[in-house]
Amino acid sequence: MKNPYLPLPMRLVKNFVETEDKLIHTFTLEFLNEEDEKSFQYLPGQFAEVSVFGVGEAPFGIASSPTEPGHLKFSVAKVGVVTTTLHQLPEGTILGVRGPLGNNYPIEEFKGKNLVVIGGGFAFTTLRSLITYILHPDHRGDYGELTVIYGARNPGLLLYKDELAEWEKRSDINLICTIDRPVEGWNGRVGFVPAVTKEVAPSAENAYAVICGPPVMIKFTMPVLEELGFSPERIIMSLENRMKCGIGMCGRCNVGNKYVCKDGPVFTRAQLNQLPNEY
Ligand SMILES: Cc1cc2nc3c(=O)[nH]c(=O)nc-3n(C[C@H](O)[C@H](O)[C@H](O)COP(=O)(O)OP(=O)(O)OC[C@H]3O[C@@H](n4cnc5c(N)ncnc54)[C@H](O)[C@@H]3O)c2cc1C
Ligand code: FES
Repeated sequence: MKNPYLPLPMRLVKNFVETEDKLIHTFTLEFLNEEDEKSFQYLPGQFAEVSVFGVGEAPFGIASSPTEPGHLKFSVAKVGVVTTTLHQLPEGTILGVRGPLGNNYPIEEFKGKNLVVIGGGFAFTTLRSLITYILHPDHRGDYGELTVIYGARNPGLLLYKDELAEWEKRSDINLICTIDRPVEGWNGRVGFVPAVTKEVAPSAENAYAVICGPPVMIKFTMPVLEELGFSPERIIMSLENRMKCGIGMCGRCNVGNKYVCKDGPVFTRAQLNQLPNEY
């Protein structure tokens, strides 16, 4: 049996400064062994534990999509020991990766439905994976309309700017980017995500909403989604509780009787309504 604590060796091939404030980098990692790549079968919404040898490991949502073979991407905010070291690593460094871990967005249930994807700040990572997966020619026909509302404090803090520009040109995705306050040169929307969601008013008919972002954004967007008619079963969220093992063994991440690492991180609003508010 495979040891779930044993990380797979991967090479850091790109350490890209993603945001203007330089606090978020996107890391592209390639598998050293072909068999490891074949065994690492993941879907949008899952995460992995990334280890910097001799420093520690930390969980990150997988920002790449399985439709982009050959590598994994993680977008990481510099907050502490592991993430600060990661930001400073030169390309070519060997890292360890354990995963894929956790559950994924319910892409099978989404089939034939319209999707409203709402993201804020740097929590856009697994949403990028989901959007990239759906937009792939093999999958786009399986899903209905795709509306994406993505907000950041200012334009420099938006992730994946080149891709946002590409998506903007496409007719099979309705992308609405918004920033908190007006800035010279910005032609997109201005306003907080909850207010913009209310303005855009995506229909809840035959639709799911997927929402990831800072707690304050979630708090104020939730009533808007409810007002629009999204039932708690049709609102999908992803949690980022503190974790250690990532595989349901240590009890670090539990909320009520659920382990966020194993039963989540993806939950419906209806499932979270049954749990104590410890997330
Ligand atoms: C499922 C999952 C997916 C995640 N995806 C991403 C991602 O895509 N990109 C990303 O940048 N981060 C993500 N995180 C958060 C990331 O794991 C933490 O920021 C990271 O563990 C911090 O490690 P560190 O050693 O640098 O910080 P530490 O030195 O351990 O801590 C530094 C500071 O960060 C705080 N912190 C540590 N872990 C968390 C956490 N889980 N939530 C909030 N605060 C925390 C600590 O309390 C402390 O104040 C995710 C977490 C989970 C559980
Ligand atoms: S992190 Fe160990 S049980 Fe979830």
